[in-house]
Amino acid sequence: MAKITYIEHGGKEHVVDVANGLTVMEGARDNNIPGIEADCGGACACSTCHVYVREDWYEKLPAVDPMEEDMLDFAYEPKPGQSRLTCQIKVTDDLDGLVVQMPEKQI
Ligand code: FES
Repeated sequence: MAKITYIEHGGKEHVVDVANGLTVMEGARDNNIPGIEADCGGACACSTCHVYVREDWYEKLPAVDPMEEDMLDFAYEPKPGQSRLTCQIKVTDDLDGLVVQMPEKQI
């Protein structure tokens, strides 16, 4: 279980507990948090689950694999060292306190 803070582009914060084994995307979807669309349902095929991860957290997350890297090229205003696709981040206890910020829009 991890407490994750999702911040909408406009600044509204949603702090929710997300169970281990879910993805960060599923944590947003299951809690009806706007800003993460996840059109492909988590198959790493749409980039509409894009967020910016605060830099102190980026290094702690599992590395970006080549498929995610390719899809991030299609995201709206990706930022090196900050952008991740939330469907590719599995929740563990280690993610407790994670903060993600949604972009202005998803593609
Ligand atoms: S939900 Fe489609 S790439 Fe993440």
